[in-house]
Amino acid sequence: MKKRILIIDDDTDMCALLSRFLSKNGYQVDTAHSASKGIEKFMNDSFDIVLCDYRLGDKRDGKDILIEIKQHKPDAIVLIITGYSDIKTAVDVIKAGAYDYITKPLIPDEVLSVLSKALENNGVAPSVAAAPAAPAKETKSSRGGSDMTSEFLEGQDPASKQLYRQIDLVAPTNFSIILYGESGTGKEVIAKTIHERSNRKGKPFIAMDCGTLSKELAGSELFGHMKGSFTGALADKEGHFELANGGTLFLDEVANLSAEIQASLLRVIQERKFKRVGGNKEIDVDVRVIVASNENLQDAYRKGKFREDLYYRFNEFSINLPPLRNRKHDIPLFADFFLNKTKAELNRDNIEGFDEDVMDVFVKYNWPGNLREFRNVIRRCALLTTGKNISAAALPQEISNTATGENNTAHEPAGRTNNFPDLKDASSRAEYETIMHVLREVNFNKTKAAEVLNIDRKTLYNKIKSYEDSQS
Ligand SMILES: Nc1ncnc2c1ncn2[C@@H]1O[C@H](COP(=O)(O)OP(=O)(O)OP(=O)(O)O)[C@@H](O)[C@H]1O
Ligand SMILES: [Mg+2]
Repeated sequence: MKKRILIIDDDTDMCALLSRFLSKNGYQVDTAHSASKGIEKFMNDSFDIVLCDYRLGDKRDGKDILIEIKQHKPDAIVLIITGYSDIKTAVDVIKAGAYDYITKPLIPDEVLSVLSKALENNGVAPSVAAAPAAPAKETKSSRGGSDMTSEFLEGQDPASKQLYRQIDLVAPTNFSIILYGESGTGKEVIAKTIHERSNRKGKPFIAMDCGTLSKELAGSELFGHMKGSFTGALADKEGHFELANGGTLFLDEVANLSAEIQASLLRVIQERKFKRVGGNKEIDVDVRVIVASNENLQDAYRKGKFREDLYYRFNEFSINLPPLRNRKHDIPLFADFFLNKTKAELNRDNIEGFDEDVMDVFVKYNWPGNLREFRNVIRRCALLTTGKNISAAALPQEISNTATGENNTAHEPAGRTNNFPDLKDASSRAEYETIMHVLREVNFNKTKAAEVLNIDRKTLYNKIKSYEDSQS
C-alpha cells in the first residue's frame, strides 16, 4: 500500500512541486496551505508522515504544528523544512519531537532518502551520523556497549539519542552553549565531545570549575596576571582564555562567578580580547565558550545573580542532559561498559557479569549521582566480587535499600580486598570511596560535601577530577 504524506506549506508552488515529485516516486500525497488547514487534515485523516515548512506566513509556525500534532498523536512522524543553515531552528524542532529536518533548497534525493529512512525506522529517530574518526588520545565514544576501546558511551535510550542528535547539530557551529544537568550526568564529558566534533578539535580543551574559585583568584585564573600585580603573583601567568586559544573553554558552575568577573567575561566574549590582571596589553583570543550550571541561568538573572546580557551571550544554544533515571534503557549498557573498564583497570578477568536481581536493582534505583555514582558503584562491586558474577550482596546498602525496600545486604568496606597494587593507589581509592559516600549522603551537592569532608570545594573538585582522569 502506498504511504501517505501530508505536506503543509503556504508556498503553493512549492507544495505543488513537492506533491508531483513525491507522487511520481510512489507516495500518496495531500497538501495544506496553512497551519489550521494542515492540522484539520491531520486530525480527520490518517497519514504516515507530515512534511511541514517551518515558516508558514501564519501566526503559527512549523513548531507549533509539530507540538499540536504530537499532542494528538505522540508517535506521528513529522519532518520540518527549515531555511539553509538555520541550525537553531533545526535543533529546536528536534527537541520538540520532530523526526528530522530538511534544509532548503530542497534536494530531491535528500527528501526521498529522509522519507524512506523515517518510514524504515518507523519514526524511531536514527542515531546521529558517526562522528569524524578521532585520533587515538581524543575522546572516543561508542553507542553500544561492545567497543571497549571507547572512553565514553553514548547510549541507546531515546533520551540519549535525542541528546547526541543535538550535539552533532551544534558541535560544528561556533555557538556558545549552556549545558544543564544534575551532578554526574556528564556535562564535562559532553563539553569535550562537542569540542572533539567541532573544527576546533586538535586545539586545546580547557575545563574550569567556577564554583571553586575565590573572588580574588577568578580573574587571574581566567585572564592570567602579570608578575607583581598582587601579593603572590611571582611571575607572569597565562589564564585559561589564553590557554584555550583556538579551542574551547568549558566553565562549570558558571553562576558562581562574581559580578565583576561576569563583566570581564562579557567583554572578552563580545570583543574577543582582554587584558591580564595588572597588564596593559590587549590580547586577542578566539575561544568557543561552553558553560554548565546546576541552576537555571534564566532564573539566576531574574534573581539578579547573573547578568542578563551575559546569559543571552551564552544562551545561543542550550542542552539539557537527562539524568540517568530518565534513560533507563541505557542502564544495562552502562553497567557492562563500566564493568569492562573496571575489569581492565583492576585485572579482574574472573568477573563475567551481573546477577539478574542486581540489574533489577540498578534499573529501579534513582541514581542521584548519575553516571559518576554508577561508575563508582560498579567499581566497588567488582572489588568485592571473587566469583563469576556480581551479586546483590556486593551492592552498597543505600542502593539495595532504596531500590528494593529491603535491609539485609552485606556491607563491607571496599578497602578489604588485597588487590591493590600499591599503598598510594589504595589510599587514593579509599579517599575517593569516602568522597562518593559523603556525596551520596548530601545528595551530590558538592558544596555541602566539601563542608562535611572539611576541605574546600576546589580540593574536592581536584580530587574527584584527578581520580576520574586517572581511571579513564
Ligand atoms: N557518556 C559517558 N560514558 C562513560 N562515562 C561517563 C559518561 N558521561 C560521564 N561519565 C562518567 O561520569 C563521571 C562524571 O562525568 P562529568 O564530570 O562529565 O559529569 P558532570 O555533569 O560534569 O558532573 P558535575 O555536575 O559533578 O560537575 C566521570 O567519571 C565520567 O567518566
Ligand atoms: Mg562537571
